[in-house]
Formats: sequence, structure tokens, C-alpha cells
Amino acid sequence: MKMMQKNNAERAKRYFFASQQTYYEEPLTLVGGDGSRVRDDAGNEYLDAFAGICTNTLGYGDTEVAEAVAEQARQLIHVSTLYLTEPMLDLAEKVAEIAPEGMTKSFFSNSGSEANEVATLIARTSSPKKSVDLLSLDHAYHGRTAYTVALAGQSQWRNFATQMPHVAFVPNPYCYRCPLGMTYPSCEIACAKYAKRVVESQTDGAPAAMIAETISGVGGIIAPPPEYFKVLRETLAPYGTLLIADEVQAGWGRLGDGWFGMVSSYDVVPDIITSAKGLGSGFPIGITITRPELADTFKGPHINTFGGNPVATRAANVTLNVIEKRDLIANCKRRGEELIASLRELATSFDVIGDVRGRGLMVGVELVHDRKSKAVAPELTSKVLEEMRKRKVLVGKGGRYGNVLRIQPPFIFSSDDVREFVHALKESLGTL
Ligand SMILES: Cc1ncc(COP(=O)(O)O)c(C=O)c1O
Repeated sequence: MKMMQKNNAERAKRYFFASQQTYYEEPLTLVGGDGSRVRDDAGNEYLDAFAGICTNTLGYGDTEVAEAVAEQARQLIHVSTLYLTEPMLDLAEKVAEIAPEGMTKSFFSNSGSEANEVATLIARTSSPKKSVDLLSLDHAYHGRTAYTVALAGQSQWRNFATQMPHVAFVPNPYCYRCPLGMTYPSCEIACAKYAKRVVESQTDGAPAAMIAETISGVGGIIAPPPEYFKVLRETLAPYGTLLIADEVQAGWGRLGDGWFGMVSSYDVVPDIITSAKGLGSGFPIGITITRPELADTFKGPHINTFGGNPVATRAANVTLNVIEKRDLIANCKRRGEELIASLRELATSFDVIGDVRGRGLMVGVELVHDRKSKAVAPELTSKVLEEMRKRKVLVGKGGRYGNVLRIQPPFIFSSDDVREFVHALKESLGTL
């Protein structure tokens, strides 16, 4: 079996682009899974706290999704956006029902990058001054198409030419390393107010939109303070700048308070919501949601061959239904609280845990050499990933310096899973 894994690493090297990099010194080949557990080709079973990058909402092998997908595949796999299908209409209708009032229109695509492309397109066509300027956040990640790479606020993800739209960056509400050298709450959310300065000095004065992840995921699970988006909204209001909530990671209940994190956890209704990842519980799908008066400013024609694909939208319909039926948003909240409390407890014994933050099942642990210096520890973070793997637990990593553990498991994560995760992390940190 070891041979087979080695062989797979060689095959990947030979046949994939060099840019496609895998986790771990020895790449992991996964073959199956059940619930929150995934199996490799050597028969090892892992507790998966990263869920295919924050995507396998219902975990592995969910029978309702699997059966609906199999049935749909037999009936009708694909037709394109030139035709209507029941699953595509059902999903759009359901989304209109659970989205904030008035946000009744959706455009389906296949990924988060595409969902964001559509959102920025709509922002530009809606802009009273026809502005092509956009705002984004430092540490942001919005996808890998040329346009969305231009929106990235991390140099390692701006790694090819990005001269397309004009994007100006607003400081991230990264309280652990405040970009303005201030402290919450005495800062009075100065980072959001700083957007005024950015608009007035670095744009045409009326940027079409500001895009923001509700919690910066790839940027290192940076969760803004509770009042952040309200202050940001007020700051941008005079310029007519729309707010796009990128809920590719934070959507569908992961933050534990309601379907959309910016709405339920931050009490702010954005103008456009984008999502992807968890919506299909593993099936490729992207969605851009907005009000008709914005959606319809672009008359098209616009097409997306696989957008609204019957199998993907059927998987999404089942996912939303199961989240409701099993009360999984509440599970995200409760498990998230347990996880954060246990990790903070663990931090009292390990000086390398600089910060524990997040909401619901979107939790980050920032690793440093010591809490006093806050010196970033990317090499320790990679080591922890390897040690966790040895202990049969998968976890993600992110952050501008690659020093943040990303814990974004399936919504079905149990209290036992939380305990197992924290125990494995404790042992892994103990080896450093
Ligand atoms: C917040 C956010 N937006 C957009 C994307 C891009 O999504 P995709 O990889 O499906 O294009 C990602 C992917 O990680 C993301 O985290």
C-alpha cells in the first residue's frame, strides 16, 4: 500500500501542473469516508476537521445526498442554463425564502470564484457612476480566476498578473495583529472607518462595491468584532458603494446563528451574497444572490454551461433540507463553543498558541514562537499538520504567514469529535 501512495505522488508530479500542491510531505490519497471520517488508500481512517476545504457540509457518504444524486443522474445529468429544470428552480426558490428579505434572485455557477466574478459584474453594472473600482480587504481571498486574484489581499495569492480591475484595500479587522496598532474595543472599529480614507484617496470616489469575507478564511480565520460590518456599512453609505458578502466559507449556517453569517452573526444585510463550497455538500456549485433591481441591471446575455446543473442543484436542495431537518446550524454553534473553550483551555499550557478565534465551526488557532513576541511560526504549523496526520486527524492551515490552523469540519461534528480533535492537537503540540 505504501508503494501505491508513493506511486501516486509520482503520478501527480508527472501529470499535474506544478502549481497544484498537496498537503503533507507524503501526499494523502483518499478513497472513501463515512460521517466525519475519511479513509486513505492504506485503510487508515482520519477524523476530518477540514472537510475538503470547508465543503463537505454533511460529511462523507450522506445517504440522502447520495441517493438523490444517483436518482438525478439516472434521470437527467445536464442541460445548461439555456433550459429550465425543477432542481434548479427549487433551489432558487428555497434560497429566496431563506435569504434576507428582497434578495430573491440567484445566478448559479460552479465555484466561489465564478460567484464572485458575477457579483462584481453586477456591482459594476449597478453603479450609478459606472465605476469599475472595487474595495477589498487586506488578507482577503476570493478565488483563482484572474479577476478574483486581483481581489486577493495576500501576496502569496496574488502570484500572477493582476492588472485587471482597480482594487483598493481596506485594513482587515485583524485584532490579534491590528494593522493600525490599536486595541479593541477602545479602537472604536477604526479599521472600518479607515475605508473612508481609502475611498477618497485611492478610488474614483464612488467604488462600485466592497467585497468582504464575513470571516477571512484563507487569510487565517480572522473573525471581525461584532459591530464591524455595521460600522463598515455606515462608512461606505455616502459613496453608494455596495457591500458584497463572500460567504463561500461562512454560508449555510457554519457560523451557527443562521443561514448567512453576515446577516445572522453580524446583523448586517449586504447587497449581494456569494457562496459555493458547502452548498452542494461536496458537489461543485456557485451562487450569487441579490435583489432584482441589482440583478437585472445586467441584461446579458450571460451563460454558464454547468450553472444550475440538475445533479449539483439537487445535491444542494438535499443539503439545505438536511441542515434544517437535523438542526445542524445549532450543532455548529454548540460544537463551535465547545471547541473554542477547549482550545482556549489548551492555550494555557502551550505558549505557541497565540490566538484562538472564530465562530461556530469556523475556528482558527494562530501559532507563534511565543505569546510575548507573537513571532509567526509557519514551520511549527506544518509540523503540527504532520503530527495530527500521524494521530489520524486532518486539519487545514492558512494565514498570510501560513501559521494558522483552520478547523472547519462538517456540520455533523459531534462533542466526541471535538474532544478527539483537541486531544490530538494537545499531543501534537507536545512533540514540538
Ligand atoms: C472566501 C472564498 N471565496 C472564494 C473562494 C473561491 O472558491 P472556488 O475555489 O470554489 O473557486 C474561496 C475558496 O477557498 C474562498 O475561501
